[in-house]
Amino acid sequence: MTLVDSYGRVHRDLRISLTDRCSLRCTYCMPEQGLPWLAKPTLLTTEELIHLARIAVGLGIDEVRLTGGEPLLRRDVVDVVAGISALGVEVSMTTNGLGLDKMAPSLVEAGLTRVNISLDTLDRETFRTLARRDRLDDTLKGIEAAAAAGLKPVKINTVLMRDINDHESPDLLRFALDHGYQLRFIEQMPLDAGHTWRRENMVTGEEVLARLREHFELEPVQDRGSAPAERFLVNGGPDTVGVIASVTMPFCGACDRVRLTADGQVRNCLFANTETDLRTPLREGASDEELATLVRACITAKLPGHGINDPGFLQPGRPMSAIGG
Ligand code: GTP
Ligand code: 5AD
Ligand code: SF4
Repeated sequence: MTLVDSYGRVHRDLRISLTDRCSLRCTYCMPEQGLPWLAKPTLLTTEELIHLARIAVGLGIDEVRLTGGEPLLRRDVVDVVAGISALGVEVSMTTNGLGLDKMAPSLVEAGLTRVNISLDTLDRETFRTLARRDRLDDTLKGIEAAAAAGLKPVKINTVLMRDINDHESPDLLRFALDHGYQLRFIEQMPLDAGHTWRRENMVTGEEVLARLREHFELEPVQDRGSAPAERFLVNGGPDTVGVIASVTMPFCGACDRVRLTADGQVRNCLFANTETDLRTPLREGASDEELATLVRACITAKLPGHGINDPGFLQPGRPMSAIGG
């Protein structure tokens, strides 16, 4: 069984948001005071999450990524990893790294195989300004703990902001190379809660590469597949750096992703303006086949692309932190 959309894209990657809450307040994501959080009773329970993941696996999903908000804030995160990993699929996580120093060993034992960790700066003051919390050292501890626990390769996600941290790209790459982390620079997308994204403020993939090339030799790697990152060998390799240019070089044509929000809604795209509610039918006793039919219909309705570059583009109502990255 496979989940194929009307453009022939086969969906194998399920991204589950475990919570919309976060321990940081990155300016490109959330306001200082946080957001109106999803109401507790609407959040899927551990059992419900695993139940829906099982249905997705039956539909051909073979990789599950746990996201947030910050997925480590879910108290049952180890149980969720164990439950999904027992379905026989790879389980990875995208996290800000806070708390990973304590949790990495138990997550690995539960079956977690990989982590992608956000790190936008190596400067304490810039971190405090950008994430509105003085937690650079804790983030670095989390990154080290992930590598020490065997979660390899550790990927680092960096969103560059003009005149805030964009000058740091060479330093961040040197840091990643020194430690054996795989760094990716991400173009900022219009998904912030405040709807303040402006194209002219976005640091493009092309700009990042131009600056890096002043310091490093970069040579494109050819094996991209459905991965969002275009990778480059650094100084002849074997280390690589990636650029995720979702806005200027969309990779929607190769998209294999489907998303489940913490409150049980399926989304066929980060930028979808519609969602398919699984929580209500699940709680009303729908059969697995009925739920699977809803997921299939959601994928059938998937649009060919995110539309960010089209006139009249409308940012989705749900912010990134409640969709999962
Ligand atoms: P792997 O390559 O499997 O390690 O994971 P990933 O890079 O897909 O996952 P991660 O959660 O680290 O995502 C990194 C960034 O890729 C996110 O911040 C998004 O900016 C971007 N991204 C992830 N999924 C999508 C998607 O479906 N569409 C778009 N446009 N961007 C995405
Ligand atoms: N555009 C691109 N990436 C974003 N992230 C958060 N908000 C945005 C945005 N608007 C990144 C985080 C994290 C990943 C899940 O998504 O920095 O690395
Ligand atoms: Fe939290 Fe990630 Fe949003 Fe930063 S980008 S506030 S780490 S959810």
